[in-house]
Formats: sequence, C-alpha cells, structure tokens
Amino acid sequence: MEKESRTNNIYIARHRKMNFVIENFSEKYFKQVKQIICSNFQNPWKDSNILFKAENSIKKVVVEINSCKVLGYIDGYTLLNEADLLLIVVRKEYQNRGIGSALLKYFLDHIKQKNIQRVYLEVSEKNQTAINLYKKFGFEIYGRRENYYGNGEDAILMKLELNGLEKNADKR
Ligand SMILES: CC(C)(COP(=O)(O)OP(=O)(O)OC[C@H]1O[C@@H](n2cnc3c(N)ncnc32)[C@H](O)[C@@H]1OP(=O)(O)O)[C@@H](O)C(=O)NCCC(=O)NCCS
Repeated sequence: MEKESRTNNIYIARHRKMNFVIENFSEKYFKQVKQIICSNFQNPWKDSNILFKAENSIKKVVVEINSCKVLGYIDGYTLLNEADLLLIVVRKEYQNRGIGSALLKYFLDHIKQKNIQRVYLEVSEKNQTAINLYKKFGFEIYGRRENYYGNGEDAILMKLELNGLEKNADKR
C-alpha cells in the first residue's frame, strides 16, 4: 500500500497506481457486485444474500475512484466475540494486484475494533488461491467437511485468532 487514509467509514488507498475507496455496500453497487460474483463462482449467491443486511453484517466494496467501478466485495458478520467471513471476491481482471489483501486487511482491522477475537471461514479444498490468501493473514486449518459443496469437493475450515495477528503483520 503506497498511501492510505481513513475517515469514518471510508478507507481511501493508493495502491499500485490505483486509487480506490473501501466503503459500505449499498444497493447502487448491487448490479456490479452480482456480476463480479457470477463471473467468479459456478453457483453464485442468491440476490437476497447480497442484499440482506442485518445489524451485525459487514458488507464492503472496493471502488476505483476515477471510474466508480466496483473492484471487489467482502461479506461477513459478527456474533458475540466471533466473526464469520462468508465471501471475498475480486473482479477477475483486477485479481493478483493486492486488492483481495487490502479488502481482507480492512475487514480484519474493522472487526478488531469491535473486540472480535476469532474469525471463521470455509473454503473449497480446490481453491488454492484463496487458501494462500487466508494463510498469508494467519488463518489456520482446523477441520474439513466432506463433500460440503455437493460435487465431491470438501470444505476446508479455517480460523484466525486475532490476538495472534500482529506476529503475522510482516508477512503482508
Ligand atoms: C481469492 C481472491 C479474493 C484473492 O484476491 P486478489 O486480489 O487476487 O489477491 P491478492 O492479489 O491480494 O493476493 C493475495 C494472496 O493470494 C494468493 N494468490 C493470489 N493470486 C494467486 C494465484 N494466482 N495463485 C496462487 N495464489 C495466489 C497469494 O498468497 C497472494 O499473496 P502474495 O501476492 O503476497 O503472494 C481472488 O482470487 C478471487 O476473487 N477469487 C475468486 C473468488 C474466491 O474464490 N473467493 C474466495 C472464496 S469466498
């Protein structure tokens, strides 16, 4: 990250010649988020999953400032002192440029401020890119659910203890 600043709920970053903000998801971004999800997953989410927002939901978008193009989306929720990361996705043509890392870092910083102690997620055993991303941030594998996706693929269960986050900071 070359330069960054933070206001109440908008995070502005300059990264590899891109200026983008991370802000709360709102309906004006629905079409773009849906399109990004559909182009990345074989069984995309229902519209209602994208639009549903509970008090404890955390739904953020990365938006390129000049073009207003949504580049990525993250979705999760908190429950007591734990959080669940449901989805992180980056527009295909913008992947592998650090946007997923910026979004996940933002999510983790955000929940740390809410005194969340651990984060859980599930990821397909075949999704090595995502597994690499999560490991880079200190997530560890603690289990597996067989045939979780109904096509023979197992889900890998991962968790991150946020108290251990600092020791991984130099890896980012
Ligand atoms: C997973 C995803 C969000 C990562 O976003 P991204 O912007 O491409 O990620 P970054 O550029 O920040 O890279 C973060 C790390 O991911 C891993 N990674 C990224 N691209 C990779 C690739 N092609 N192969 C292997 N690992 C890769 C690396 O560990 C990388 O860290 P490094 O650059 O320090 O080595 C993105 O690939 C994506 O949207 N995938 C499809 C949706 C998905 O599978 N989401 C996760 C399950 S919900």
